[in-house]
Amino acid sequence: MSTPIVNLWKAALKTFTGQNDVGYKFCQQNFEKLHSLINEIKADDVKLTPEILRFVEFQPAPMCFIHIFENDDISISVFILKNGVTMPIHDHPGMHGLLKVLSGVVNINSYTIQSEIDYLVNLDKKIEATSHAPEIVNKNDPACILTPRNKNLHGISCVEGPAAFLDILSPPYKVDIYGDGERPCTYFKIISSNETSSSKNDEISDKVQLIVTDSPPDFFSKTLKYSGPVLS
Ligand SMILES: [Fe+2]
Repeated sequence: MSTPIVNLWKAALKTFTGQNDVGYKFCQQNFEKLHSLINEIKADDVKLTPEILRFVEFQPAPMCFIHIFENDDISISVFILKNGVTMPIHDHPGMHGLLKVLSGVVNINSYTIQSEIDYLVNLDKKIEATSHAPEIVNKNDPACILTPRNKNLHGISCVEGPAAFLDILSPPYKVDIYGDGERPCTYFKIISSNETSSSKNDEISDKVQLIVTDSPPDFFSKTLKYSGPVLS
């Protein structure tokens, strides 16, 4: 039976399948269709119930994770942050991402690296980035988008929780990058920022300097079972 999450899954496959093949061409029209479908997704479409959200708030992990689907082209999952928790600034090397809030409210701080480097793994490496205006996002807002270049880094704070969001990433972290194995998820922290300036589209942005850090030891997650429609 076709359901909103099944339709979304099919659109994600249509958009991203074969992206690792020579000759694959990213189709903006398919991506826009995918964006419009994810904008309609509700907590109930992935059977994210009030009971699950309550459970998340009372268990010890700062974040819970629900795996929905993954192949070599896409991953679909739900992240649930407890009230007040911040997912530290991290990157998505060479990936596209769509993030749709299903419950609660998050504050998303996104960064665009200024150089052409696609992924960084050296600890203590400093990089220049543009800091985009923070976005306060709830379930009524459209999905946030990141691309291999634009807003590829973000930190996400739960300001009204627990906050749950559906995440589509392409390709998934586990898929090889440039023959070097899995894509590393690198964490960053801000070490300095310059004065505020207005960018072309009137978004307030800052120039910031970020430094690569270890993955934060106190940020761990608990995996919960997915009980929504099966995608296969
Ligand atoms: Fe992320």
